[in-house]
Amino acid sequence: MSNSMENTDGSESDHGGAPTIVDLDPTDHDTFLEDVLNGLSLDQKAIPPKYLYDDEGSRLFDEICETTDYYPTRTEAAIFREHIAEMAERIGPGVAVIEPGAGSGEKAVMLIDALDRPEAVVPVDISLDYVRRSAEALAERFPTIPIYPVCADFTKPMAMPAEIDPTAPRLVFFPGSTVGNFAPAQRRALLRLFADVAGAGGSVLLGVDMKKSSARLEAAYDDSAGVTSAFNHNLLARMNRELGANFEDKAFRYTARWDDKEGCVWMGLQSLRDQSVVIGDRIFEFKDGERMHTESSYKFTLGEFETEALACGLKTLKAWTDAKGDFAVFHLGAA
Ligand code: AVI
Repeated sequence: MSNSMENTDGSESDHGGAPTIVDLDPTDHDTFLEDVLNGLSLDQKAIPPKYLYDDEGSRLFDEICETTDYYPTRTEAAIFREHIAEMAERIGPGVAVIEPGAGSGEKAVMLIDALDRPEAVVPVDISLDYVRRSAEALAERFPTIPIYPVCADFTKPMAMPAEIDPTAPRLVFFPGSTVGNFAPAQRRALLRLFADVAGAGGSVLLGVDMKKSSARLEAAYDDSAGVTSAFNHNLLARMNRELGANFEDKAFRYTARWDDKEGCVWMGLQSLRDQSVVIGDRIFEFKDGERMHTESSYKFTLGEFETEALACGLKTLKAWTDAKGDFAVFHLGAA
């Protein structure tokens, strides 16, 4: 299997220096508008989830992670705290850590701290600001480890910074259960890409949220403090502000439902009456009760995820869970 992240000589990154910007397809105003107009034209209206995460959305997401109802963040952190030494031991010495999404903060620090002489850390994110801030924080915390930020869409193959020893084993680090936010086909493509990036001598360390009662899942995704609702309503405010739309905030209600057939929590905004929404010269009709999709969060059993990873070229080397079996951290290697 070939590595998608090959070393290139054109890289501009220094030790902890300016991010390398790779084939970036920036999410500008026109793309946002086009995605929203297309999404609202579908029979099942849907806005791509990435638009939830503007500055305010990212702040609200951090707040969701602190709520009592949203268990994944603290459960995963506890698994890392308990098993980090064994994880580092299994991963082995001298790895180049590639962190797609680059937002795991505390968990990345815990892992890098535990690893035996890591070769380098490569935070990868589509937001230049975000990847720069992550790299600065890591460089400050680990002044002797080379940090090579890359600003790129991590769902696409990309080049590895040229400074990294091409013979160093690679670890793809993807905590947070973000893998569950990808629909099945995209998720399999992402897992195949991770297998490719890690290569024969590398591995993948990834967080996965487990199936559990619909009551607990729906509470986690519609927290009693109303933060997840505010996170979704922020999307309406963003479309009004940035696209000149006229969504009436009070005319929509946030809803999160466990879909047993699909195996995901389905999140969206439900229209509270028949209404029209105007964006530029387009008018979109919403029926009373109609739901507009904003995000899905897929959940797995250990066996389901293991089977899916294997079909994507990744064999389970070890999976750690909490005592209740709410969350799992998988260590995967080339199948
Ligand atoms: C980012 N991701 C792992 C979250 C999840 O649990 O699916 C996104 C989220 N949306 C609402 N609450 C959490």
